Amino acid sequence: MSLTSPRSGDAAKVTLISIQAKKQQHQPITCLTAYDYATSRLVDQAGIDMILVGDSLAMVVLGYENTLPITMEEMLHHVRAVRRGVKRALLIADMPYASYHLDEKTAVKNAARFVKDGGAEAVKIEGGEKRVGLVHRLLDAEVPVMGHIGLTPQSVHMMSGYRVQGKTITAIERLMRDAVALDRAGVFSIVLEGIPREVAAMVTEEVGCATIGIGAGPECDGQVLVIHDLINLTDRQPAKFVRQYGDATALIANAVAQFKTDVESKGFPADNESYHLPQEVQATLETIRERKRAMSR
Ligand code: KIV
Repeated sequence: MSLTSPRSGDAAKVTLISIQAKKQQHQPITCLTAYDYATSRLVDQAGIDMILVGDSLAMVVLGYENTLPITMEEMLHHVRAVRRGVKRALLIADMPYASYHLDEKTAVKNAARFVKDGGAEAVKIEGGEKRVGLVHRLLDAEVPVMGHIGLTPQSVHMMSGYRVQGKTITAIERLMRDAVALDRAGVFSIVLEGIPREVAAMVTEEVGCATIGIGAGPECDGQVLVIHDLINLTDRQPAKFVRQYGDATALIANAVAQFKTDVESKGFPADNESYHLPQEVQATLETIRERKRAMSR
């Protein structure tokens, strides 16, 4: 193995070290979800630091009601596609519900599949203090871990729905304990989802690892959004924290409607959108057809 550095002109590969450096230098960290080759390529080329193949895939791409039904196989299929599109960003695979909740041995095996078969560079798991043992096991297996606390969608039934978390003193104390426990266990970052900005600011101040907010205010070390929310490609009402930077719904709906109109009016395809025979083949074909017509008269 050689100790290589990037070719001049190549943007430097994002690593755990560069994420940590950004936290220390107070440079905001960018993170977006992506689920396929085409999108992940664009997100990577835009210079986003981290790309998360989130289990939100279950809802925004596969149409499930929540994130719970998605399987390891479905996630792996998309992680592999994203891997092919990403060169620079740090690629994180979200561990789906029940892939790490049953026993630690199975959890490590599943995480290793994301790294070995999917090409992920880290995994994300939901939950705080109760995941400390698992974080140690994953790190022992050389798998970097991103934590996720606050509104954790895989706990939708336990939380009685998708609700902002950490609004009482008891809940804030629990969140702080969770964050500190994950940080001490060695996660490289923690997603803070759906918590008051004041609480996210306290967590960010307290922990050494990078905090990545989604609905957690501007004091986090970085921000993540679901790409389908960012470009308006969902059928759900956007949450308060979503800012839409584009309108893919309008773009696709208009393009499809124009295609339909053009095909139905025979305006598509035009001659210059069709292939043509070479002239000599066309002439020979004409002669053959003419002969056939003459014989049938
Ligand atoms: O699944 C997902 O997309 C996530 C992000 C919203 C953090 O967990």
